[in-house]
Amino acid sequence: MNPFSFYNPTKVHFGGGTIRMLGKELNEAGIGKVILVAGSGSIKKNNVYHQVTDTLGKYKIKWIEAWGVRPNPELPKALEILELARKEKVDAILAVGGGSVIDTSKAVAAGFYLNNLWDAFLGKEQITNALPIYTVLTLSATGSEMNANAVLSKPDAHMKLGVFSPYLYPKLSIIDPTVQCSLPFAQTVNGALDAMAHILEYQFADDTPHVTLAINEALLKTIMACTDNLKTNPCDIVSRGNLAWSATLALNGISGIGLKGGDWACHQIEHALSAFNPNIAHGEGLGVIFPAWMEYMSEKDPCRFQRWARNVWDLDSPIPAIKRFREKICSWGAATSLRDLCIKESNLQQILDLIMKNQPIGAISKFTAVDIQALLMLAF
Ligand code: NZQ
Ligand code: ZN
Repeated sequence: MNPFSFYNPTKVHFGGGTIRMLGKELNEAGIGKVILVAGSGSIKKNNVYHQVTDTLGKYKIKWIEAWGVRPNPELPKALEILELARKEKVDAILAVGGGSVIDTSKAVAAGFYLNNLWDAFLGKEQITNALPIYTVLTLSATGSEMNANAVLSKPDAHMKLGVFSPYLYPKLSIIDPTVQCSLPFAQTVNGALDAMAHILEYQFADDTPHVTLAINEALLKTIMACTDNLKTNPCDIVSRGNLAWSATLALNGISGIGLKGGDWACHQIEHALSAFNPNIAHGEGLGVIFPAWMEYMSEKDPCRFQRWARNVWDLDSPIPAIKRFREKICSWGAATSLRDLCIKESNLQQILDLIMKNQPIGAISKFTAVDIQALLMLAF
């Protein structure tokens, strides 16, 4: 076990009906006016908007609304919302949606006190304050509801970057898994794949903290079993709940405790894919890249993947386990190759160049352009 510090200040209310607790929480925190940030309207169809505005109204919390955050959220939208938040002098940001809405909200919260928001993503300006962030999660995937990361794209530069700051932990997140029954199965799968990828990024970095590795194996198996169940019964509340909490635990600090920080090459590569084509969902991209990365890495170092093969797949060696992993992804109807993501062989050089912009790539092994090229071919 490596020495570690653990800090996670986000309060969580979890379960059916918990959205109604929002107004009281805001009221008790002395918040009188929020900007409600949302995506393209799913929260109106599944009654989440109604539940949120109902509790805000009950506690006389004023709100203004900022709609239109898209998947793979972009800097210009965040800047537009930031301008509105400043003009309206809000006390807090209320994100109602999935990771894209939450990340945009975090960027706005930090941007409120920054000279140049994108400079924070480039590491040129430090985040030293943020407006309080409250979230109502509608899609379990990123863990953004209980972590201090935000990811944004700058479309004119084909860049997608993340930023971390302790100021970006939400004050409160409400996770009501019942509101996820309205998700199309493909989005449930994208979320499951992202959550699994967060665990896997940590899982192979080090083999000493057995308790963390064992927790992670349980999370991986839970996520896969729940996703299997949701394929045939999207409103299986037990599966929704277990999947939701597993996805939160996958990137709230717990899955990395005592490990050496994780690898994150697959995330860097996927962010370049989504920057190349914003229609590629983060989770689906990871479902293509991760098995290819495992295949590539296990050729050099099969022992690293032995424990995962045995404890997650009940198999003696990594290669058949990776095959089973791909088959699982395929059974959920998600892409298993770059071709499935509509990437052409002629695009690979541009994608490689985008990936190489953000060095270093990977921690277990520092990936060179030659490694990435070989990996992209395996994924193709
Ligand atoms: O636009 P709306 O109406 O919100 O619809 C969304 C969107 O179309 C829809 N949706 C969400 N909840 C729903 C629903 N549809 C029906 N019923 C519901 N209950 O789902 C679509 C995708 O939403 P999005 O927020 O984009 O998905 P996700 O949560 O997977 O977020 C992905 C983004 O987060 C970043 C990714 O790179 C990507 O940009 N990440 C953030 C991380 C973090 N902050 O820690 C870490 C991750 O590794 C990741 O990079
Ligand atoms: Zn991710």
